[in-house]
Amino acid sequence: MRKYIVGNWKMNGLRSDLGVIGQIAALANTFSNVDSGLCIPSTLIAVATQQYPHFTIGGQDVHTATSGAHTGCISAAMLIDAGASVVIVGHSERRADQFESDALVQAKAQAAIAVGLSAIICVGETEAQRDNGDAENVVLGQIDGSIPDSATSDSVSIAYEPVWAIGTGRIPSVDDVTAMHSAIRARLVARLGDDGSKMQILYGGSMNGENAATLLAIPHVDGGLIGGASLSAEKFAPILAAAQDIGA
Ligand code: PGA
Repeated sequence: MRKYIVGNWKMNGLRSDLGVIGQIAALANTFSNVDSGLCIPSTLIAVATQQYPHFTIGGQDVHTATSGAHTGCISAAMLIDAGASVVIVGHSERRADQFESDALVQAKAQAAIAVGLSAIICVGETEAQRDNGDAENVVLGQIDGSIPDSATSDSVSIAYEPVWAIGTGRIPSVDDVTAMHSAIRARLVARLGDDGSKMQILYGGSMNGENAATLLAIPHVDGGLIGGASLSAEKFAPILAAAQDIGA
């Protein structure tokens, strides 16, 4: 499977950073065996897709409704209209800060794929849940509750992001990532049949140029969702290079 490397800029990025998106788009073009993209603030999507039309640009959230009285929200149609082709849903920061439930994340993913966006559905346990031995149950429960019935391997990817690994510089052991990604794969196959074996499962949480080769070599780690290390071309480059070396 080709590796899929997606940057998540979170609430970072002004128009003065468009050049960085251009550098990353140019860089991505040199790694022909890797699928890559950047999920950027909504305010930059239209201008970024105009300037760099051949690079995958995405949003970081979407509303469940197609339009209407939802002040401050962005619909899937608006993302498409701005040139986005992908959207992150259910990131742990939104699950925590905006109290997003599995059912809401599922409805958001459904709204996204209904208009032709692909959705990256995020799941992951907190540190307390891992310490209690609940990590796998929590993550598989999120998988069950957050994936819409219409999901296919073309329209949906999963990002496993342990909450305690995000932005902390800490990552799980290779054994723990292996176990979790295998468990997610088994659940996807049980739910979606053969197509579940093709759905990309990304790892996220402090992936960087130093640990990417190790993480991306783990079975069923089909790519990465990268926060901090996607904010500059210099930091993103070695992750793409590792994906190019390991990917088919
Ligand atoms: P990080 O963020 O790479 O900065 O840990 C990953 C994410 O939250 O998607």
